[in-house]
Amino acid sequence: MAKRGKKRTSGAAQPWSREATTGPAATPQTSIRALDAAEAQARLGELSDILVDAVALGASVNFMAGFSTDEGRAFWRNQLPGIANGEKRLFVGDDGERLVATVMLTFAHQPNAPHRAEISKMLVLSSARRQGLGRRLLTTVEQAARAAGRTLLMLDTETGSAGDMLYRSCGWTEIGRVPGHAFKPGGRLAETTLFYKKLDSSEA
Ligand SMILES: CC(C)(COP(=O)(O)OP(=O)(O)OC[C@H]1O[C@@H](n2cnc3c(N)ncnc32)[C@H](O)[C@@H]1OP(=O)(O)O)[C@@H](O)C(=O)NCCC(=O)NCCS
Repeated sequence: MAKRGKKRTSGAAQPWSREATTGPAATPQTSIRALDAAEAQARLGELSDILVDAVALGASVNFMAGFSTDEGRAFWRNQLPGIANGEKRLFVGDDGERLVATVMLTFAHQPNAPHRAEISKMLVLSSARRQGLGRRLLTTVEQAARAAGRTLLMLDTETGSAGDMLYRSCGWTEIGRVPGHAFKPGGRLAETTLFYKKLDSSEA
C-alpha cells in the first residue's frame, strides 16, 4: 500500500518548487515501467492528472494556466498512435494504486539520426517529488534508449527549473540557452536550456 500524507518540503519557495503537500507520495515500492498504448488509453485520466498538476504548479511544459483535465486527456490521446507504432515509448511511475509520474522517449525518424532520441514530459506528481522518482525515471528511459541503439539523447527545459537541476545531477551536458524561449503558464517569458547526453553503447 502506498504511503500517504505530507511529504518533506524543500526549502525556499521558488516558482519551480511550489509543491503540493497532499496526494500520493513516491515510495520505494513505486515501480517504473513502460505503458503500452492500450493501457495508456485506459489510464488517460491519471496521465492527464499528472500533466495538469505540473502546469497548475507553474511547470513550463508547453501549456498555459487553466490547462484542463480534458486538454490533458487530449494531449495523451494524441500520443497513443506514436506509442502504438513504436515511434515513442512512455514510461510511468506506478505506486500500485495510481500513476504518479511520466516520461516519454521519442526516437528520431530522420535517416541520418538512427542513434538519436528525445526525452519529454518528465513529470512527477507534485506530492511525490524529491524522493528520487525523477532520477529513477531518467535512469530507466536512458537504459531503454541505449537498449534501442539510441546513444545520443536530447531535451530542453526551463533554465533554473527542477528539471534543469535533475538533468545536471544526472550527467547531462548543457548545449546552450535561448532567452525568452517560452511562456510560463502564468504568462512570463522564460529562458530554456538545451541539454544532451551521450550514452555508452557498450553498456546496452
Ligand atoms: C523535474 C522533476 C521531474 C523532478 O522529479 P523528482 O522526483 O522530484 O526528482 P528527484 O527526487 O529524483 O531528484 C533528483 C535530483 O534532481 C535535483 N532536483 C530535483 N528537483 C529539484 C528541485 N526542486 N530543486 C533543486 N534540485 C532538484 C536534485 O539534485 C535531486 O537530488 P537530491 O534530491 O538528492 O538533491 C519534477 O520536479 C517535476 O515533475 N517538475 C515539474 C515538471 C517539469 O518541470 N519537468 C521537466 C520538464 S523537461
